[in-house]
Amino acid sequence: MAEAAHSPRVFSGIQPSGNLHLGNYLGALKRFAETQETGVQSIYCVVDLHAVTVWQDPDALRHATRELTAGFIASGLDPERSILFNQSQVPEHTQMAWVFNCVARMGWMKRMTQFKDKAGKHAEQASLGLFAYPALMAADILVYHATHVPVGEDQKQHLELTQEIARKFNHDFGVEFFPITEPVIEGAATRVMSLRDGGKKMSKSDPSDMSRINLTDDADTIAKKIRKAKTDPEPLPETLKELDTRPEARNLVNIYAALAGQSAEAVLAEMGGRPFSEFKPLLADLAVAQLAPISTEMGRLMQDVAEIDRILARGAERAREIAAPILRDTYRIMGMVGA
Ligand code: TYM
Repeated sequence: MAEAAHSPRVFSGIQPSGNLHLGNYLGALKRFAETQETGVQSIYCVVDLHAVTVWQDPDALRHATRELTAGFIASGLDPERSILFNQSQVPEHTQMAWVFNCVARMGWMKRMTQFKDKAGKHAEQASLGLFAYPALMAADILVYHATHVPVGEDQKQHLELTQEIARKFNHDFGVEFFPITEPVIEGAATRVMSLRDGGKKMSKSDPSDMSRINLTDDADTIAKKIRKAKTDPEPLPETLKELDTRPEARNLVNIYAALAGQSAEAVLAEMGGRPFSEFKPLLADLAVAQLAPISTEMGRLMQDVAEIDRILARGAERAREIAAPILRDTYRIMGMVGA
């Protein structure tokens, strides 16, 4: 474990901005539920304040926040054993973010590839919040002294920045206060790719719905998207090495492996030599068997929005019990009177 002085604590977050997809499920949600089973204290956050770094329709944001909460629970997260809440109900996140805005350097922030990707050619028109986003993300994690953060590959750079911020704060104030948090990027599907283009990440912002499997897709839609997924004409190889030049094939094998809880090697040992016309229906069956119950359960949970809101409010209370003293100690270290 990372730091002897800090007991293990897991934190992760997901943005409520549009549909949850297979990448979110395999790269994050499914692993959160597995992490919970290890018994480590785990805190999961619906990061609504991150979502509003680009404009969100208020009704759509409310809906997405509740639906994502339902997605966490339907994927196996128990809001009693873990802590589950939405970010805006715990003001310590934004208070800590201000501290980190003053620790992080402009040069560090300018290197963040996600900002460059999201802002594109229109950086001057992007919100200040989108630029400062990684400092808020560091605050999400460090306001709980979290030691481990399970995420997909795309969050790696943000987690390195979180480590930089912790190191600089500790150094500037001569303390060993913040842990150097470890990213946990593990499993066969840390980067699920688009079903239409093996060189592009599966993402909620892709204009083509055929590029991704949404957690709310029904069985027929899931099967159709897999049947139509881009592939090459060759059968599956026996070894992983042979997939290096076949991104679409590699993606489908990785998805199969992550859904089945196997390694990609084990999948190829079993499936090597089969054509996609045989492999795709097996993959579709596996995906439907695993995702359909989640989608059904999300629908059931969404029938009782008041209960979802109660879960989030209770989670926020428990989160604040951890975050408030850490923020107070941070202020005290910095010399704020009254802390
Ligand atoms: P977000 O909301 O974009 O994605 C949520 C989680 O899903 C993972 N993910 C993927 N994994 C594999 N393949 C994909 N195609 C794929 N797409 C998304 C992401 O890596 C992530 O784990 N900045 C974060 C949210 C955040 C956060 C945090 C995460 C805010 N504060 C603190 C961890 C700790 C984000 O935008 O994730």
